[in-house]
Amino acid sequence: MQDQPFTDDFRTQLDLLMRLRRDVRRFRTDPVDEATLARCLDAFSMAPSVGLSEPWRILRIKSEAVRGAALENFRTANAEALSGYSGDQAENYSKLKLSGMQEAPVHLAIYCDDATSKGHGLGARTMPEMRRYSVVAATTLFWLRLRAEGLGLGWVSVLDPKQLALDLNADPAWQLIGYFCIGWPEQISDTPELQSEGWEQRHAQLPIETR
Ligand SMILES: Cc1cc2nc3c(=O)[nH]c(=O)nc-3n(C[C@H](O)[C@H](O)[C@H](O)COP(=O)(O)O)c2cc1C
Repeated sequence: MQDQPFTDDFRTQLDLLMRLRRDVRRFRTDPVDEATLARCLDAFSMAPSVGLSEPWRILRIKSEAVRGAALENFRTANAEALSGYSGDQAENYSKLKLSGMQEAPVHLAIYCDDATSKGHGLGARTMPEMRRYSVVAATTLFWLRLRAEGLGLGWVSVLDPKQLALDLNADPAWQLIGYFCIGWPEQISDTPELQSEGWEQRHAQLPIETR
């Protein structure tokens, strides 16, 4: 395949896509077309992975019972997280919406198989965590591809991974990378919701140290 020259217009659009990526917690409940979702999932096949290990393992949650268990898991973990804050911070935390699990039409749990023999260990001998970083890198491509379709993704990590693995009947050797809510966003902003809600600010400038 010949290298395609990317245009200024494309670069402008790519910047816009990244600026409007957002972590989404407020979804409309209308379904996501399967062909659209499949196109977005193709991003995993294009993603980098250490040693070409492709260690991602994706579970699609369709059962109402399992969705309910995952939601309960989030609610419990979120209540526990709230109890770790006090004063104004607890008040602020309690107002945050930290998952769209109830509304999002598509739920995926994405795992890393650290025991995979694919890739023959290349690049992961001294740093086995590289396999997990590979799954995160792939997830980011998926996130952007979803956004390019107008879809949104919300990453949920406020969960007990052991309980989730039991409820999902996931391979016990897999490591949870995240629980992902996918669907049509109610709205999209260029500002992270945690910033709009006063929880945290983006850096005004990228900090880079020189050595
Ligand atoms: C590894 C990871 C875990 C995250 N877990 C959660 C979560 O449990 N709940 C939540 O509301 N957002 C979660 N987020 C989203 C971040 O809060 C969000 O990316 C950040 O506030 C910046 O907002 P933006 O993604 O809209 O730019 C997570 C993001 C990452 C990368």
